[in-house]
Amino acid sequence: MTLPDWSAVRALTPAPLNQLFDADPSRVAALSADVAGIRFDWSKTHLTAEAVQAFAALADSTGLAAKRDALFAGHAINVTEGRAAEHTAERGEGAPESVARARGFHGRMRALIDAIEAEALGPVRHILHIGIGGSALGPDLLVDALGRDADRYDVAVVSNVDGLALEEAFDRFDPQATIIAVASKTFTTTETMLNADSALGWLQGNGVEDPYGRVIALTAAPDKAIAWGVDETRVLPFAESVGGRYSLWSSIGFPAALALGWDAFEEMLEGAAEMDRHFRLTPLEKNAPALAAFADLYYTQARGCETRATFAYDERLRLLPSYLQQLEMESNGKRVTADGQPVTWPTAPITWGGVGTDAQHAVFQLLHQGTRLVPVEFVGVIEPGDSQADSHHNQLLLNMFAQGAALMAGRAHQDQARAYPGDRPSSTLLLDRLDPRTLGALLAFYEQRTFVNAVLLGINPFDQFGVELGKEMARAAEQGGDFDASTTDLIQRAFG
Ligand code: F6P
Repeated sequence: MTLPDWSAVRALTPAPLNQLFDADPSRVAALSADVAGIRFDWSKTHLTAEAVQAFAALADSTGLAAKRDALFAGHAINVTEGRAAEHTAERGEGAPESVARARGFHGRMRALIDAIEAEALGPVRHILHIGIGGSALGPDLLVDALGRDADRYDVAVVSNVDGLALEEAFDRFDPQATIIAVASKTFTTTETMLNADSALGWLQGNGVEDPYGRVIALTAAPDKAIAWGVDETRVLPFAESVGGRYSLWSSIGFPAALALGWDAFEEMLEGAAEMDRHFRLTPLEKNAPALAAFADLYYTQARGCETRATFAYDERLRLLPSYLQQLEMESNGKRVTADGQPVTWPTAPITWGGVGTDAQHAVFQLLHQGTRLVPVEFVGVIEPGDSQADSHHNQLLLNMFAQGAALMAGRAHQDQARAYPGDRPSSTLLLDRLDPRTLGALLAFYEQRTFVNAVLLGINPFDQFGVELGKEMARAAEQGGDFDASTTDLIQRAFG
């Protein structure tokens, strides 16, 4: 494989942002895109026509177009695990046989949702979704973002093995009206299986006659779910080729489909498909996932940035930073290339972030005046999600715009403690409204941006071997294995 040659990118010497704006009245038009109800604006980054060209050349040499085709064609681009990465087939964009298989699985999910709505499982008001990582973060985000006004079902997503997380859900829910969705691609994840056992015990202990009859399994390992005790009719499978952190489009999205309604779930898939088509068919200089990745790579490879921060200026998107952390850091936090050579360039930066305006009063000091350069991404929504006086939403959005402007403009002051250096980059994603279609498009954008980053970095975004050692060590600790002196001391203090 051709390794990325960063020399042209590192040789870029863009002028300060204010000068870039002064020099080019069409800068905003040139560095923005409107896709699927989302305005993307990279004009406040240091991307220039020359930079975009340098990245397009890099995309060419690392085979982005062919790899993108391979992704959508269902080829085995997850080379270390020898399989395809077929999350796009879930939304209708992929190899015909994979799309057909996904439709079949969706049909099963829909039929079960219809049955639940018709009270075939008895009265259901509460959904206790148990899963972790990709089997929790996506559904949690969907329900939190879109389900606030939905009065169909109450959903609790429990991921942590800390029993307190389960107890909070137990306190809220009536066991006689609760169904449990056990979400696990592998159906072996220790935390999820322990939580699922305890949730069954809670149903049993509260007089539910047939606790297993209240369990639905969302998994790519149906046999394991059946062996664990779930009736085959309540196992909602998805394909092995759908990665955990890319799985919210599959049956892992079940609680969202149930709580928001099937039509909403389908609209989300359609929004994602629209972004997929944009990614597949649009030239790189107007291609939203590609341009976003180019900006990411400029800051990591040429400016030494170690983090990127995303701030959602919308309470409904408060879980977006956590979702992005898994998507980006588990995908692209790698130290070898796809064919196993050590990389000598930085891979994914640390993804972090929060919610505006809260973050302005907590962490923005560092962004404006700290010694580290942190590219910032703002995400806002034009149509308000609240029914309070307009002043709330106006202030929210105006604050977001003001922060981007302030980071860029800076301010001179004789007293250095009061001076702002400025020239600090940000990009803005402005959604027309937060509905299933637009959220689907937004999340697909993030997936495809992660993919472009990976291709240009020369790494495989679809494996995650780095999580295995800790799991093995935890199992060894349970079995009293040998550890270093510090760990042994800690275990002894906790367990005697
Ligand atoms: O440990 C990491 C991981 O494998 C993630 O990639 C995945 O999303 C999560 O654990 C949960 O895995 P599963 O869905 O198999 O329970």
